[in-house]
Order: sequence, then structure tokens, then C-alpha cells
Amino acid sequence: MFSASTILALCFGWLAQAATVTYDFNITWLIANPDGLLNRPVIGINGQWPLPYITATVGDRVVVNVLNQLGNESTSLHFHGIYQNGTTEMDGVTGVSQCPIPPGGPFTYNFTIDQPGTYWYHSHETAQYPDGLRGPLIVNDPDSPYKGQYDEERVLTVSDWYHEQVPTLMKSFISVTNPTGAEPVPKSALMNDTYNLTTPVEPGKTYMFRIINVGAFAGQYFWFEGHTMRVVEVDGIYTDAAQADLIYISPAQRYSVLITMKNDTSTNYAYVGSMDQTLFDTVPASLNPNATGWLVYDNTAPLPTPSLLDAFNEFDDFTLVPTDGEELLGPVDYSINLDVKMANLGDGAS
Ligand SMILES: *[C@@H]1O[C@H](CO)[C@@H](O)[C@H](O)[C@H]1NC(C)=O
Ligand SMILES: *[C@@H]1O[C@H](CO)[C@@H](O)[C@H](O)[C@H]1NC(C)=O
Ligand SMILES: *[C@@H]1O[C@H](CO)[C@@H](O)[C@H](O)[C@H]1NC(C)=O
Ligand SMILES: *[C@@H]1O[C@H](CO)[C@@H](O)[C@H](O)[C@H]1NC(C)=O
Ligand SMILES: *[C@@H]1O[C@H](CO)[C@@H](O)[C@H](O)[C@H]1NC(C)=O
Ligand SMILES: *[C@@H]1O[C@H](CO)[C@@H](O)[C@H](O)[C@H]1NC(C)=O
Ligand SMILES: *[C@@H]1O[C@H](CO)[C@@H](O)[C@H](O)[C@H]1NC(C)=O
Ligand SMILES: *[C@@H]1O[C@H](CO)[C@@H](O)[C@H](O)[C@H]1NC(C)=O
Repeated sequence: MFSASTILALCFGWLAQAATVTYDFNITWLIANPDGLLNRPVIGINGQWPLPYITATVGDRVVVNVLNQLGNESTSLHFHGIYQNGTTEMDGVTGVSQCPIPPGGPFTYNFTIDQPGTYWYHSHETAQYPDGLRGPLIVNDPDSPYKGQYDEERVLTVSDWYHEQVPTLMKSFISVTNPTGAEPVPKSALMNDTYNLTTPVEPGKTYMFRIINVGAFAGQYFWFEGHTMRVVEVDGIYTDAAQADLIYISPAQRYSVLITMKNDTSTNYAYVGSMDQTLFDTVPASLNPNATGWLVYDNTAPLPTPSLLDAFNEFDDFTLVPTDGEELLGPVDYSINLDVKMANLGDGAS
């Protein structure tokens, strides 16, 4: 027999889970200059770029009413890392799960999210998202195993940034004049879609940074000077807290890390994202692969220039252990090796 209060609790539990969060997204062209080097068209939402975040709680229904007001390009939204269990048609991958949303067209995304963690959303029409249509998607978790172990959260995006727009980049990328398939080399690295990002922090507090690489191509090394990270989530999966001084974040990858601030407020500390230049076929002398931000304890104190590292000794994410306790699969009976190589055709396409 359930008591009345149990039934009430169940009802309220159910109500809490059944919340719907609704976003109206008008997608338009805007002008932005995130690296201070070039004003260029970017794809914004509701007159805003950087883009608004999508935020939900585990169990919520998310409704995104898109209106494509670009005028000259189709679009779509993909919710990266969300399983879309039973709602494949909401996955946003044009030519696979839906037709492109044509200029002037509306489309309503409507799905539930039953997974906690750090995600992102982006256009999945052609190669469009590096023109700006990409932003964080955060799924809060009232039952997080790290609940109570941090005071505040900070979302932080890292990305590469191009000056030419995607249609131009793609024309030279997939071309007979580029038979080896050399990828376009970015012009800058960004943090939070800006330059010289400052993050006010309070002494002694522990912050959970949700770090997302929303870039097109470049993986980034990432570190905080003078502070150790504790990795607690990767790509929506909680991990046993693992200490790391420097992490490598591939495009689309996400890390949540806990960082405890110092008690001494006299010095500010840099944090750095450094694009992995081994990916670039040619590195122009003018390229600054690094983006720097600062943990600001005292806004009257200087923002120090980060020290240069001799080498990137990144944390090995293969050592991460999920908190779910799921057993590893046992030994296999047969193993089959597949050799994979990237063999572009003479026309630059593969
Ligand atoms: C970032 O800060 C540096 C050093 O103060 C300055 O030279 C540069 O112009 C700034 N960049 C932007 C885009 O604000
Ligand atoms: C989106 O655009 C339509 C048509 O121009 C307008 O009526 C509506 O208010 C806009 N919505 C937002 C959220 O900007
Ligand atoms: C569409 O218009 C924008 C803004 O004027 C422009 O930057 C972009 O290159 C155009 N796209 C195409 C495919 O012509
Ligand atoms: C997908 O939904 C089905 C039916 O509700 C459920 O049984 C299954 O566990 C779900 N799978 C995942 C990965 O959540
Ligand atoms: C979203 O889907 C649910 C379940 O199918 C439906 O009840 C609801 O009306 C839909 N909402 C919108 C805005 O389409
Ligand atoms: C990044 O920008 C968002 C939105 O303005 C802000 O809430 C967040 O605190 C910023 N992150 C950092 C690390 O400063
Ligand atoms: C900061 O001060 C608190 C309270 O006195 C102490 O528990 C903590 O260990 C100190 N943190 C550091 C990094 O020294
Ligand atoms: C970027 O940072 C790395 C690591 O500290 C350093 O080796 C490199 O010289 C820096 N590049 C520039 C242009 O500052």
C-alpha cells in the first residue's frame, strides 16, 4: 500500500521529469569578429552570436522551433551526443534523418533527453557549422555523483576559427587542385567564441568547467596554469575523478573538470587552448595556435602571459574509469583486424 505522501511524491517526481523546455530559434546572418582580426558573416540565433545555450534537466522534453531566416542557405540542428532513442527523425542530420530546412522554412525538433552531461548542438547541413551555427547543450542532473563537490559551473567552448566561409573553404578542400585532401588551416583559436576571455573566480571555491570543443578540425591541448584538473565526465559519461594537468580535446569532445581555487587572491592565472598543429599540412608563420583565458582572482592585478611548454604531456583518457561499474567484456573468441587508410581519389574527394 502506498501512503498518500508517497503517491504525492511519485506524482511530483513524475511532474518534475515531464518538464518541457521550449526554444524559439530564428536563424539569421550576423557580423562578428571574434579574433579581432576580421569582421565576417556568422550564423546567429535570435540576433545573437555566440549562440544561446540549450539547457535541460535529465528527463525533460526539449522543443526547438527553428525558423530558417538565412535567405540563401538551408540548415538543420543536430544535438550532438543525444541518443534520440525512438526519435531518430529528430537527429537533424540532413540527407539521413531529415530533409534540409529550406530558406524560410520552419522545423520543430521535439525529443526527450534521458542522459546527463555536456553536449553541443550544431548545424548538420553540408559543412555549415564552422560558419558559427554551434553552441553548448547542457543537461543538468539532480542525481549527479559529484553533487555537492563543487560550488559553481562554468561552460567553456574552445574552437578553431576560419576567416573564409565554409562554401569557399569546401570548394578548395574538395577539389582536383587538392588531391591529398589537405584540410583548411584555421586562422585563430577561440575560447567562448572570443579572445582574451576572463573568468572571475572566488578563492577556495571549486568550479566545474564543462569544456567543449565546438571546432571544425583542430584538436586542442588545454591546461590551467597553477591548478590541477579532476576529470569527472567525458562525453556525457561520469568518470571516477582523475587528476590531469593537461588534456587533449578533439573536435566534438567534451570534458567536465573540477578545479579548486587557491585561497591567495594576489595573482591571476592563465588557461590555454593550443591547436594541435601536427594536423596542419602547412603552418603559416602568422598563425597563433593558442587561445588564452584567465582565472581572475583580482581584476586590478595583471593578466600574466602564459609560460611556453616544451612538450604537451597530455592526460591519457584511456585510463578513465566510468562510474557506472559496468563490467568490461570478456576475452573474444575471434579477433579480426581491419586496416584503414585515407585514400583520396585524384579529384580530392574520397
Ligand atoms: C588580446 O590581448 C592582447 C594583449 O593585451 C592584445 O594585444 C590583443 O589585441 C587582444 N585581442 C583582442 C582580439 O582583443
Ligand atoms: C522570429 O521571426 C518571426 C518572423 O520574423 C518573428 O515573428 C518572431 O518574433 C521571431 N522570434 C524570435 C524569438 O526572435
Ligand atoms: C549567404 O549570405 C551570407 C550573408 O550575406 C554570405 O556571407 C554567404 O556567403 C551566403 N552564402 C552563399 C552560399 O552564397
Ligand atoms: C530506449 O528506449 C527503450 C524503450 O523505452 C528502452 O527499453 C531502452 O532501454 C532505451 N535505450 C537506451 C539506451 O536508453
Ligand atoms: C512533442 O511531442 C510530444 C509527444 O509526441 C507531443 O505530445 C507534443 O505535442 C509535441 N510538442 C510539439 C510542440 O510539437
Ligand atoms: C563562457 O561564456 C558563458 C556565456 O557568456 C559564461 O556563462 C561562461 O561563464 C563563460 N566561461 C568562462 C570559463 O568564462
Ligand atoms: C584554503 O583554505 C581552506 C580553509 O582554511 C583550507 O581548508 C584549504 O586547504 C585551503 N586551500 C589551499 C589550496 O591551501
Ligand atoms: C603556443 O603555445 C605553445 C605551448 O606553450 C608554444 O610552444 C608555442 O610557442 C605558442 N605559440 C605562440 C605563437 O605563442
